[in-house]
Amino acid sequence: MTVFEPRIIAMLCNWCAYDGADAAGRARLDLPAQVREVRVMCSGQVDPDMILKAFAAGADGVMVLGCKPGDCHYKEGNLHALKRIVLLRSVLKPTPVHPHRLQLDWVSAGQGHHYAQVVNDMVETIRSLGPLAVGVSREER
Ligand code: FES
Repeated sequence: MTVFEPRIIAMLCNWCAYDGADAAGRARLDLPAQVREVRVMCSGQVDPDMILKAFAAGADGVMVLGCKPGDCHYKEGNLHALKRIVLLRSVLKPTPVHPHRLQLDWVSAGQGHHYAQVVNDMVETIRSLGPLAVGVSREER
């Protein structure tokens, strides 16, 4: 029997969450290998289409990690991200993509421990939900 290892895409804001991930790595914290990081300039840059394409390409979960409210380098990009994620999660409700497969969180630069916690929590959430078979079969992955 094969053990389900989720594939998670984490879109990290260049100015905060990416540094948070870097801090977690420098501190040699326990980080899951199931999370693939994509650096974006701002969480507000993450278009819903990018998220849906990630699911269609075989991701079991998608995370968007941005600066804390008030800290966005582009003023309100993270607030736009929040609105989009809330809306997208409600749109996903009637689909096979459980809303918990899409997470938004804030991680400041230097918050390595918080970064490690949110990505490890996401892996556990996706493990409990099981694989998502949208668009591609497990064999194609
Ligand atoms: Fe980090 Fe906008 S610059 S969320």
